[in-house]
Amino acid sequence: MPTPADIALNADGRRLTLRARGVERDFAALWLRERAPDTKTLDALTGQRLIEAAELPLDLTIEHAAIEQETLTLSFSDGHRTAFALDALFGRADAGDDLSLWDATLSELPRADFSAALDDDDALLALLESLRRHGFVKVSGVPIEEDGMQALIDRIGPLRMTNWGGIADVKSVAHAYDLTMTQRGLEPHTDNPYRDPIPGYIWLHCLSNAAEGGDSTLVDGFMAARRLKAENPDAFDCLTRVASQFRYVDDSTHLESEGPLIELDSAGRINRVRYNNRTERIDAYDTDTLERYYRARRHFYALITDEALTVHLKLEPGDMLIMDNYRLFHGRTAFALDGGVRHLRQGYVDRDSMASRRLVLRQRASQSEACT
Ligand SMILES: [Fe+2]
Repeated sequence: MPTPADIALNADGRRLTLRARGVERDFAALWLRERAPDTKTLDALTGQRLIEAAELPLDLTIEHAAIEQETLTLSFSDGHRTAFALDALFGRADAGDDLSLWDATLSELPRADFSAALDDDDALLALLESLRRHGFVKVSGVPIEEDGMQALIDRIGPLRMTNWGGIADVKSVAHAYDLTMTQRGLEPHTDNPYRDPIPGYIWLHCLSNAAEGGDSTLVDGFMAARRLKAENPDAFDCLTRVASQFRYVDDSTHLESEGPLIELDSAGRINRVRYNNRTERIDAYDTDTLERYYRARRHFYALITDEALTVHLKLEPGDMLIMDNYRLFHGRTAFALDGGVRHLRQGYVDRDSMASRRLVLRQRASQSEACT
């Protein structure tokens, strides 16, 4: 039985304090008015707003508020009346609270089964929730054929097309257009920071991995950023404020984008990381800024290459990693082809498609739970 909710209206009627679910929250009168969940304010079919919010009176007040069971009813000074379900005002925890940051001590890799995710919505939701929580998931049982991952991508959202096409090879070739296509080890990095938008999720599918070496390395970039903040607040501050530039150029393509190595959201939470030594080309900022940046970048680099933060794994044929490219740094150890062939395939899916699928499946699961 939830504790009874309680409300208080401040003296000028511009703020409502609501206590429910063991928490207390303040709501501005204007916010409650423009979000009023009724058909005069929102279109019944799309949920999109019908009124022009910017034209609401800035001195709008709440004239009457009452709470009964799980419903808050309100009357406003513009004559509008509405009712909110308390659940709508105390919804899910803030974004970010469901993340689980990890380091080398991560005892169990988040895993999923390809066929199960393909056939069953609950299994797909579990995969997407796990991916959200950890920033990656290792999927087994992917058909060992060139575009074996495609069927699961089709369940989620469109494959992101780039100048390299859709699902592309990651293997050592002569005349490589990218260092990925060589036998070099690759430092921990995020992919393609020179694109806009940067690809949200990397799907990396192993067809064969008989070469000596070529193990995958993963680092939780949010954990590395959090460590940097604890160990060196000035370096953290610098990397959140100074934008670096990234560039990719070949005969037919010229891509440029920029952003800080550690990006915060509007609430100051770590929201995205970037690191790509191969393609970074920071502008010629003033010397003080650059020297501060270089010191900060060195400290960050030491963290993201620290074994204490690194998880190692070897992909076998039929394995696939799905990685959050805004959170994870991935790399690989060098490999030698004397031992055999290393052939992986890689595709990208944008963030909005992945999030949309997860939220829709979550909504359906909670509806079917409510019905049973
Ligand atoms: Fe990569």
